[in-house]
Amino acid sequence: MAGALEGRRAIVTGASSGIGAAAALAFAHEGAAVALGARRKDKLDGIAEQISGDGGTAHVFGVDVGDEGAARSFVEDAAAEMGGLDVLVNNAGVMLLGPVDGADTEEWRTMVSVNLLGLLYCTHAALPLMREGGGGDIVNVSSVAGRSANAGSAVYNLTKFGVTAFSEALRQEALYSKIRVTCVEPGFVDTELQGHNTNPVVVEAIEKMRETTGKVLSADDIARAVVYAVGQPAHVAINEILVRPAGQPR
Ligand SMILES: NC(=O)c1ccc[n+]([C@@H]2O[C@H](COP(=O)([O-])OP(=O)(O)OC[C@H]3O[C@@H](n4cnc5c(N)ncnc54)[C@H](OP(=O)(O)O)[C@@H]3O)[C@@H](O)[C@H]2O)c1
Repeated sequence: MAGALEGRRAIVTGASSGIGAAAALAFAHEGAAVALGARRKDKLDGIAEQISGDGGTAHVFGVDVGDEGAARSFVEDAAAEMGGLDVLVNNAGVMLLGPVDGADTEEWRTMVSVNLLGLLYCTHAALPLMREGGGGDIVNVSSVAGRSANAGSAVYNLTKFGVTAFSEALRQEALYSKIRVTCVEPGFVDTELQGHNTNPVVVEAIEKMRETTGKVLSADDIARAVVYAVGQPAHVAINEILVRPAGQPR
């Protein structure tokens, strides 16, 4: 039986771990050709091997999406290798938490560069390719942190509110080119994301949140939501998906 995404050509940013890796595997499982982008090429190679071992098609690109030229080359080269572009999943992201007062401003630059600029650069490169190809899907991975802001998360909130707002404005512009836009807002997902935090207060707060929540989401839980959105018939647009663990209070 043909998969739901047979014949589609998809780019996934941040495909070396977590949600991006799960989305790439899920897309391939549903029959899509996938281009995987991230900085850790060795990790991407492992995922690509898994995909091709299962009979799928994967292309690997080492890329820092915060570098405009690199992001553009990645999208254009991936589309050229796949013979076109139907889906862009803007998933690459970084979450470095802590209070504004006394923060390491380099961490702010990293989050703005990856979570916002990286997403904008990839989108900018993908839009003409999709328009010329007759349409497509852009899936932006925001967060529950893009809907409600909390102390200790200000700059991550800033980036994810930005992704949510950008997604809605882009939706209104892109629909005339038959490009659908989906904003996905995960709650607590068990990935490497939280592990980049070193501030002991933040680490403790994350662990407390995990304990309060109980069973958190897996990356596959979010990948299913992405496949659901992209797999809809052409006249149906799933514009926003908020997925929390059932026990997550906020
Ligand atoms: N986990 C959660 O609870 C949660 C909740 C809500 C939203 N999200 C969002 O989900 C998305 C995926 O995160 P995740 O949870 O799957 O975490 P993850 O396992 O840490 O994955 C993040 C991905 O982003 C990539 N990345 C980071 N900086 C990059 C850069 N400069 N250029 C290219 N790729 C870069 C990483 O790859 P390299 O390091 O190899 O470059 C990695 O593949 C993020 O946007 C995150 O904000 C996660």
